[in-house]
Amino acid sequence: MAAKACSVLNPGATRGLGLEMVKQMVESPWPVRQLLACCRDLDGLRAEGLRDLAKKHPNVITVVRLGEYSLCSILLQMGSLVGKAGLNVLVNNTWVLTHGTMQTTSTQEIQAAFNTNILGPMDITKRTFKMYLFFLMSATKSGKPGMFCSKPAVVSISSMVASMATVKEMCSFFPMASAGLNMLTLCATEEFRKDEILFAVLHPSDWKGGEGGAIDAPESVEGLLSVMDSLTEKQTGVFLDYEGKVMPW
Ligand SMILES: NC(=O)c1ccc[n+]([C@@H]2O[C@H](COP(=O)([O-])OP(=O)(O)OC[C@H]3O[C@@H](n4cnc5c(N)ncnc54)[C@H](OP(=O)(O)O)[C@@H]3O)[C@@H](O)[C@H]2O)c1
Repeated sequence: MAAKACSVLNPGATRGLGLEMVKQMVESPWPVRQLLACCRDLDGLRAEGLRDLAKKHPNVITVVRLGEYSLCSILLQMGSLVGKAGLNVLVNNTWVLTHGTMQTTSTQEIQAAFNTNILGPMDITKRTFKMYLFFLMSATKSGKPGMFCSKPAVVSISSMVASMATVKEMCSFFPMASAGLNMLTLCATEEFRKDEILFAVLHPSDWKGGEGGAIDAPESVEGLLSVMDSLTEKQTGVFLDYEGKVMPW
């Protein structure tokens, strides 16, 4: 095991894998020190699980109200929230799933998927870097050399459906937006290699929100967290599944 995350920003924490990730990160025997959990509708029914977790772990979880990726509020809050130790892991896990073909999918549907799956993560990553740079220096100067999830890292939860290699079987998802997130992560890997910021793309398996999926959310997230803990500079820019198996781009 290389290293555990300490301070995490989770933009899609209301439900699904994002919520399960919050749960496991704070309830593990080695919990994260701080978790910023974003939620678009904190008062809504969907957010009940997150509200309960935040009540149970008030010293660790801070719920940040998120508009449709209007992140100014996060930025304003983040500096004071993370303090001197800084934020070290951003998990890009928001998405909308598209289904169809080029002929049946509307431009609006694709625009929504691009906004949520690529442009939102790109925006939050760029803005977070403005904060990262504050503590990147201290992380590289004081910490052990190399890249780990206990130092600056961006983990994008994407999908096998985004793989060019599986397009024959997966094209009915019309997964252009998720494929874009993969490419965004690869480009950022190169751009920030010199700054020792670790990037990875992870496939959580096909869990389908518990309805007939291959595995359930707890198993998927357990695997994802274990893979994150094991990442080092040797894996920056990789595409792995929740068991650490290399996925084809
Ligand atoms: N489900 C699967 O079988 C599966 C398979 C392969 C890969 N994945 C990957 O796993 C990750 C999580 O999937 P999931 O099934 O847990 O997703 P999910 O249950 O559908 O949750 C999606 C999350 O994204 C947020 N979100 C959606 N649109 C947004 C927007 N415009 N602005 C801000 N937030 C937005 C949602 O917030 P609200 O609650 O406010 O809508 C929610 O927190 C995704 O990155 C996906 O690529 C999932």
